[in-house]
Amino acid sequence: MNIIAIVDVAYLVAAILFISGLKQLTSPATARRGNQLAAVGMLIAVVATLFVKDILTPAEMLGGLVLGTGIGVLLAKRVEMTGMPELVAAFNGFGGIASALVAGAEISRLIADGEPLGAASAVTIALSVLIGMITFTGSFVAFGKLSGRINGNPISFPGMRFITVLAAAAAIGAAVWMALESGAFPAQPDGVIDGALAVTIAAFALGILLVIPIGGADMPVVVALLNSYSGLAASATGFVLDNTALIVSGALVGASGLILTNIMCVAMNRSLLNVLVGGFGGDSATAIEGTKSMEGKTATSTSADDTAILLAYAEKVIVVPGYGMAVAQAQHAVREMGDELEKRGVTVKYAIHPVAGRMPGHMNVLLAEANVSYDLLFEMDDINGEFDTCDVAIVIGANDVVNPSARHDKSSPIYGMPILNVDKARTSIVLKRSMRPGYAGVQNELFFNHNNRMLFGDAKASITAVVNELKAMD
Ligand code: TAP
Repeated sequence: MNIIAIVDVAYLVAAILFISGLKQLTSPATARRGNQLAAVGMLIAVVATLFVKDILTPAEMLGGLVLGTGIGVLLAKRVEMTGMPELVAAFNGFGGIASALVAGAEISRLIADGEPLGAASAVTIALSVLIGMITFTGSFVAFGKLSGRINGNPISFPGMRFITVLAAAAAIGAAVWMALESGAFPAQPDGVIDGALAVTIAAFALGILLVIPIGGADMPVVVALLNSYSGLAASATGFVLDNTALIVSGALVGASGLILTNIMCVAMNRSLLNVLVGGFGGDSATAIEGTKSMEGKTATSTSADDTAILLAYAEKVIVVPGYGMAVAQAQHAVREMGDELEKRGVTVKYAIHPVAGRMPGHMNVLLAEANVSYDLLFEMDDINGEFDTCDVAIVIGANDVVNPSARHDKSSPIYGMPILNVDKARTSIVLKRSMRPGYAGVQNELFFNHNNRMLFGDAKASITAVVNELKAMD
């Protein structure tokens, strides 16, 4: 078997590993294994490419492997769960710039080797630079918004839409220019080089212009969309380099990113267009102070002792985690509470809303980290029918995803978003620090229901106090 055939087989194995890895990512029980499979696939693809192109010596490859693994392990160990969305945004940004740089390098290689560039290849290079640069700057704006380095409110200025359209037109015009100039390449490469530079500058501006008007609350959707763009950029680069592994992996990332974006939009009952131009949510939303009364109803607070008694004598308890559980890092205490209740014969289930927290699967990851059994985790549609037969629904730092106004208040920014039916439980207890609203900035009707109690304080401290009370009851 010649070396090209070996590399083709390696790419095929890598593609199979990517696809089976993705499949396994669809369930929390197999997700870790799926991640490992896809990582092995990528390792095979990278090593095969470096060998066939004779790019690096084995010693250099090993050095790169050790360095990259070291940085990856360090980042993974240091990043807080709440910082995960911004880390993903940064990864997407690096993916985008890598695609743009590789496409640029291909132009200089063609010039150095005196090889021609067809119009179709010129357009592919332009696409790779265009999508790659938009992904790069857009992702780093998203990173800045998520990490608080850039104002999370939607940012706009007079004439912004016009400038955005102008930048898009300039990028398309420059790509066409590259195609037209490709005939004179490589004898007269200036037209193609100038076109590529123009695409780079226009796409750099476009990435910023497209993401700054989007509110912080919608950044997870933007990150998923940019993830999809980074895949498309990689796929375009795969066509530039005629590299099957890059085309396949890029297409998989592009498609899965789009599917994820759609899942999030459906879960919030909003269109992608509304997310991109809606200017929904931001820092100011979280700053609005809530009140303890609403339409003549008053929210009632409770204590850890009373909560423990209520839980201990329940038959069925549904735990509803939200972003506050991630902030408080309360997942281990929550698992301990679940264990204590199960010891008493209480049936404990966990209800997971698809957009609870700040990234897809946020709650699953946290609860898995605390070793909560996957069998106890239920998706919204599977558990919503059970709230009216449960004695206590305990809400750990969730807010928007349990707000009943989403069902009927047409003026609410979350109107139409499917919610967890916590208000149907016999008693609900909400753990949070204050009456402040959640990310959407709207007050929660649930807090004022006659059968709801508020347990104020940091979620981890509150749950720990409840667990101590449960233990003291033994
Ligand atoms: P939120 O509505 O953001 O509410 C979280 C609540 O946690 C806040 O009201 C906050 O109240 C409380 N909290 C914060 N720190 C706490 C702590 N240390 N201890 C106890 N409570 C704490 O969260 P949610 O219900 O999970 O909803 C998610 C929101 O994000 C939705 O609006 C959703 O549309 C949006 N979103 C999510 C995604 C994904 S993929 N997850 C994507 C796009 C948009 P206090 O400040 O009073 O404590």
